[in-house]
Amino acid sequence: MTRKRVAVLISGRGSNMSALIDAARDPAYPAEIVGVLSNKAAAPGLAIAANDGIATASLAQSKFPSRDMFEDTMTQIMESWEVDYVCLAGFMRILGEDFVIRWQGRMINIHPSLLPLYKGLHTHERALADGASVHGCTVHFVTPGLDEGPAIVQAKVPVLAGDTPQSLADRVLIEEHRIYPEALKMLAEGRVTF
Ligand code: GRF
Repeated sequence: MTRKRVAVLISGRGSNMSALIDAARDPAYPAEIVGVLSNKAAAPGLAIAANDGIATASLAQSKFPSRDMFEDTMTQIMESWEVDYVCLAGFMRILGEDFVIRWQGRMINIHPSLLPLYKGLHTHERALADGASVHGCTVHFVTPGLDEGPAIVQAKVPVLAGDTPQSLADRVLIEEHRIYPEALKMLAEGRVTF
């Protein structure tokens, strides 16, 4: 089996990135994390990946004359890593259409809601404000519309009396760490296509 080569794009702590790295420690897992790219030099996830001997790069969009040039540079870096798939894991930048189309079908994202509910930010606060009884997370293909691409795997969690945005986020995050490696496995094995 040739393992698929995967880049993970992050902006922060990288707990979903770590879940993917951990899953890929199993030689039978069909993908390996070959590089981690951050748009924030201070992202804690970068150090975690580097400690694991994974190639890392950080580049700030503000240092580039345009978003296209920033994204072209990300593509060049990922091509130098010979990446098959891209996993967005808390990458807090809206990506341009050219970049998205270039990777479409090969780029997935984890979102902390049961899409199509609660696209965008502050998903836990909004679920609580609505009095939702069920919440969750979604791994989906990335398409040009924000959080609009087709879902691959979802997981539900109950909303409990007394939940705060943080307690709900913590419950959802456990499921994120479970379904992201599962979705990447399905993709890498060709069991799901765009
Ligand atoms: C996660 O909640 C993920 O669903 C969202 O951003 C957060 C990233 O957390 N897209 P981490 O960096 O993976 O810990």
